Amino acid sequence: MNILVLNGPNLNLLGVRQPEIYGSLSLADIEAILRERAARLDVLIEFRQSNHEGVLVDWIQDSRGVFDAILLNAAAYTHTSVALRDAILATGLPVVEVHLSNIHAREEFRHRSLIAAVCRGQICGFGAQSYVLGLEACVTFKATA
Ligand code: DQA
Repeated sequence: MNILVLNGPNLNLLGVRQPEIYGSLSLADIEAILRERAARLDVLIEFRQSNHEGVLVDWIQDSRGVFDAILLNAAAYTHTSVALRDAILATGLPVVEVHLSNIHAREEFRHRSLIAAVCRGQICGFGAQSYVLGLEACVTFKATA
């Protein structure tokens, strides 16, 4: 199984960016944790980050036929991007939405996710563990599909 892990804008600043909300781990730390879990699950992961909406759209489009599922932290684009939503629909791959913070417990504008309805599910609020749980969800629904 091959899973594409996509990270949206400002997640490259994890560790220094609002640690009281996002924790002290860097994105590289989260990647290392995820790689360890992936190896034990016998899953391959490709881990990427971009600050640019169009790049994320391109990566989602190009994932068809290459990856089995996408683990997506769209960051701020979660709340704004019709383009990401449309790319998910167009690609047809199962997508699991993840967030480090509990977006429903934060500012009102973060409560709405434009991608949630076209994802298989959403995991938020567990810090780096959200990614691990998301990876496990990808593997579990593949096994039960
Ligand atoms: C985030 C939550 C978003 O609202 C925010 O814009 C982010 C990170 C999270 O992982 O908690 O950049 O996706």
